[in-house]
Amino acid sequence: MELLSPTDENLRRAGECIAHGGLVGLPTETVYGLGADAFNVRAVAHTFEAKARPSFDPLIVHVASLEGVDRVAVVPNKKARLLMESLWPGPLTLIMPRKPEVPDIVTSGLDTVAMRFPSHPVARAIIAYSGTAVTAPSANPFGYLSPTTAFHVAQGLGDRVDIIVDGGPCSVGVESTVLDMTVDPPHILRPGGMPAEAIEAVIGFIDKSPAGEAASVAKASPGLLKSHYAPRTPLYLVKSGAIAFARPEGKAAALLIGPASASSFAATEGRFALTRYLSSTGDLVEAAAGLFTALHELDAGGFGQIWAERAGDHGLGPAINDRLYKASKK
Ligand code: TXA
Ligand code: MG
Repeated sequence: MELLSPTDENLRRAGECIAHGGLVGLPTETVYGLGADAFNVRAVAHTFEAKARPSFDPLIVHVASLEGVDRVAVVPNKKARLLMESLWPGPLTLIMPRKPEVPDIVTSGLDTVAMRFPSHPVARAIIAYSGTAVTAPSANPFGYLSPTTAFHVAQGLGDRVDIIVDGGPCSVGVESTVLDMTVDPPHILRPGGMPAEAIEAVIGFIDKSPAGEAASVAKASPGLLKSHYAPRTPLYLVKSGAIAFARPEGKAAALLIGPASASSFAATEGRFALTRYLSSTGDLVEAAAGLFTALHELDAGGFGQIWAERAGDHGLGPAINDRLYKASKK
């Protein structure tokens, strides 16, 4: 595995590596992805192998331009077109009918495909240099915390990837919002880096009800599995602002959204070996950006337990709460 800085020469090499069937760890604005040529069945199969990911889990296909979509998907309606024009590039994945040329291994045999146009300049350059569309699941071993730095990718996947391009820490920090455009109203399958409010500002009402755990849904979108993004240390979740109700035992860490209010300080003081605030002001964008990094750090910190409090329900709150819930003991 080679760890490369994002010089133009290296971006070209990374793109060529994908074009030749290799696997590239690349930064996007959400999390690091494990990029492969979406039309190369062997390369895509390697991605599943590298992640130890069950093959029923469909992948997101990434493009570096609006035109790039046409090889992969059929834009199903006006709302989808509007979202592509208004919110792309950005942390929004749209589920659309697929083109028949897309290999079944990419979509797990579904007749739809997940499309994303990331905004990160490094991801865009690598995809453009590859000359193809790029499958990129989060670059972590299946079920473990998502990577938000090149170091996380190197630590988790090591020599199972050919090249990792270091683009620094990811600015959004949680995965893209996955929105099903094949139903009306469109339905959020995974809350993520694009807040529901921003989507509704463009196309009006969308279905924000939890996509649920029904077997059929879990099969269609396995990112909905209950346990996912999980640290090895047991994580327990309390309501927003309710850290006082935690019952830590042994050496435990507290993970709070913020702010470091007098009441939460009093609630954690003396009861936790470490209290970590995701934002000193309670800003949910900042909290999301640092979420996986904080979980990685706490997981490596030798704690017996992590107690986390939920975020509020606006903006990136649902995305943060979804990740915390999936990281928690049920
Ligand atoms: O932010 C992101 O989306 C990152 C970066 C690397 O782009 N990628 C990512 O990929 O999170 P992954 O593979 O970890 O998650 C893909 C999610 C899964 O929940 C999967 O089930 C869902 O998208 N998905 C993919 N194709 C689908 C489809 N055709 N229908 C429904 N859900 C689909
Ligand atoms: Mg993932």
